[in-house]
Amino acid sequence: MAAINSVTELTQDGDIAIVTLNSPPVNALSANVRDGLFEGFKAAIADDSVKAIVLICAGRTFIAGADISEFGGASKGASLFDVQNMMENSPKAVIAAIHGTALGGGLEVALTAHYRVAVPSAKCGLPEVNLGLLPGAGGTQRLPRIVGAEKALEMMTSGAHVPAKECLAMGLVDSMAEEGKLLEGAVAFARKVLDEKMPLKKVRDRDVAGGSPDVFANFRKANARKFRGFMAPEANIKCVEASLLPFEEGLKVERTLFMELMTGPQSAAQRYVFFAERAANKIPDVPDDTEILPVKKVGVIGAGTMGGGIAMNFLNAGLPVTIVETKQEALDRGLGVIRKNYENTAAKGRLTLEAVETRMGLLSGSLELSDLADCDLIIEAVFENMDIKKDVFGKLDKIAKPGAILATNTSFLNVDEIAAATSRPESVIGLHFFSPANVMRLLEIVRGDKTSKPVIATSMKLGKTIGKVAVLVGVCNGFVGNRMLAMRQRQAQQLVAEGAMPWDVDRVLYDFGFPMGPFAMSDLAGLDIGWNKDASKGETIRDVLCEMDRRGQKTGAGYYDYDEKRNAKPSAVTEQIIRDFAAKSGVNARDIDDAEILERTILPMINEGAKILEEGKAIRASDVDTVWVNGYGWPVYRGGPMHYADSLGLAKVVERLKAYEAQHGDFFKPSALLEKLAAEGKGFKDLK
Ligand code: 3HC
Ligand code: NAI
Repeated sequence: MAAINSVTELTQDGDIAIVTLNSPPVNALSANVRDGLFEGFKAAIADDSVKAIVLICAGRTFIAGADISEFGGASKGASLFDVQNMMENSPKAVIAAIHGTALGGGLEVALTAHYRVAVPSAKCGLPEVNLGLLPGAGGTQRLPRIVGAEKALEMMTSGAHVPAKECLAMGLVDSMAEEGKLLEGAVAFARKVLDEKMPLKKVRDRDVAGGSPDVFANFRKANARKFRGFMAPEANIKCVEASLLPFEEGLKVERTLFMELMTGPQSAAQRYVFFAERAANKIPDVPDDTEILPVKKVGVIGAGTMGGGIAMNFLNAGLPVTIVETKQEALDRGLGVIRKNYENTAAKGRLTLEAVETRMGLLSGSLELSDLADCDLIIEAVFENMDIKKDVFGKLDKIAKPGAILATNTSFLNVDEIAAATSRPESVIGLHFFSPANVMRLLEIVRGDKTSKPVIATSMKLGKTIGKVAVLVGVCNGFVGNRMLAMRQRQAQQLVAEGAMPWDVDRVLYDFGFPMGPFAMSDLAGLDIGWNKDASKGETIRDVLCEMDRRGQKTGAGYYDYDEKRNAKPSAVTEQIIRDFAAKSGVNARDIDDAEILERTILPMINEGAKILEEGKAIRASDVDTVWVNGYGWPVYRGGPMHYADSLGLAKVVERLKAYEAQHGDFFKPSALLEKLAAEGKGFKDLK
């Protein structure tokens, strides 16, 4: 056995050399890894007793890509291209042995091997697009040469991790090894290559299948909505187009576009989000070795909009769930919606009917809270009313087993007050899901004054188990997400009161990158949520719309008019109501330009985010961004409100807030933290 360097070993099994990488956690292609690979292959090629070379990784995965943390720094050691050239031009067969995930640069390394062997649980993908990039180490040119233009477009613009079996069918993997016996399988395959004198296939020498101009035109058209605002998908498509050129020319296109993306603001934001999501898992005063409580059975209280979606998360993860309602009818409706959701997914081919039944088999309904006595975690999702919540928690206190986690899904209410209704506030926590709860990735975990560390650690871990991005926040009105959203909503309403039209506000925020604006969102959710018919006195624009039965999409009209296909059109009725309101309240309605709409909706959010940090309700600025990207559709290519503020420059943010403060008063007064950072020439990124 020979150590090549601290992360690479070269060993031999007869005439087969084995280069083993061991660079935890994910064998990313750091300078050390590249050096190790380069020197390892060089030594194996130079050794006359070696006839073929297997590349394999120790630990949980094959190479998961370039080392993202090195991006932007000066490059050191052997380049990735040096490594790839060494492998591809090796006079001895090179076999990549894949387990875990071969992603990005990792797959691009494997594509310069002559053959690829994988275990069934392995996955391959080029996820660079999710970092605002494209595969920059020949992947854009080699992948289409194996899987054809159409599949390459799919894989590169989705970043999907493709299971080994599908890779085998596409020719991306040449042979499967038995699970747990990758090395043996790869060595046996290497012997077969030698015995059968199989050719040293270079992917670069192949031709691309498919790729007529209409393939690209159709792909662009079909995905226009999905790719809206992003630069990377189009750059990936251009590279696949370039793969129809001679290999070296295609590589040049790849290089140019890669550098454009790498040095641009979108990729910087997307890479920031990648690390932000992972940083959110780290809680300074809750160390990694904090006790994790066993969660084997889950209870959910309330089978409404949220309760049903919350239950689905746990069923999907294979955990049994009991859901409790007050009336049989509500229970039946709730269970029915869950079944229907699963059946719809099955109808789209994304779930087997057998899986639908397995999941439904884990679900039971009840009208008795006492049926939750054996649950390890109970999540309350009843009406947003403090008295009802306190009543439920008071009862739970008497029923739940000792040590069970008692969670509330409240959107705004004080978790400490809810916890005080029990004799065990240390077990109470907020688990704030977002609608639809089975789809949205964000989970705000609300830490009460007395919540215990094991309850926090277990909740964070559970978030991961159910595929959520979990962010720990503190108790305050609306926590991080809704508290900041309220600022945007207030300004959106205020702008309309001053003469802006709802569709103008929506358009500006849509163009900024949000999936929809606040008024379109109201129409979708229903304007009458929280509206009381009897108490309504036409005091707001919403009151008037609701009184006219314009309650949103469900009634065919709200802020907008809707046709039978629910296409929205600006409404003359709404416009008149707005004008009448302005006249009545003595406001001189004026045209408001897009720049003002954007600043007045976004800057107060940034300011509120700064107040949240000041008050310690979020641990770090990147947690605020993680909330907004995953829960509220903030465009990931703008990194989140705090990252966006940094990109504008905090001095500019403060200057603009002060300008609005002068016109509109205290609402815009910059927070002390914002002023301080701006004065010091710093950004939120500098907060430690
Ligand atoms: N570079 C640097 N660090 C990385 C990394 C990478 N490519 N991939 C993962 N890590 C780090 C994470 O930051 C995390 O660190 P932490 O423990 O200190 O927070 C640790 O590895 C473990 O990562 P996860 O928590 O994400 O572990 P999972 O097991 O859940 O997921 C994974 C593993 C699927 C590999 C996931 O980490 C992942 O998707 N990584 C990114 C893969 C990727 O995007 N590769 C392409 C990179 S760009 C590229 O290759 C350019 C090339 O074309 C030139
Ligand atoms: P919903 O009105 O759709 O559902 C509430 C359900 O709870 C109803 O089916 C009701 O019958 C049931 N219920 C009421 N009292 C009960 C009791 N004592 N025991 C058992 N069941 C009871 O409400 P929704 O939208 O699901 O909201 C639930 C909670 O989730 C609220 O606190 C809300 O603020 C929060 N939330 C809502 C979001 C949304 O977008 N709808 C998003 C995030 C949180």
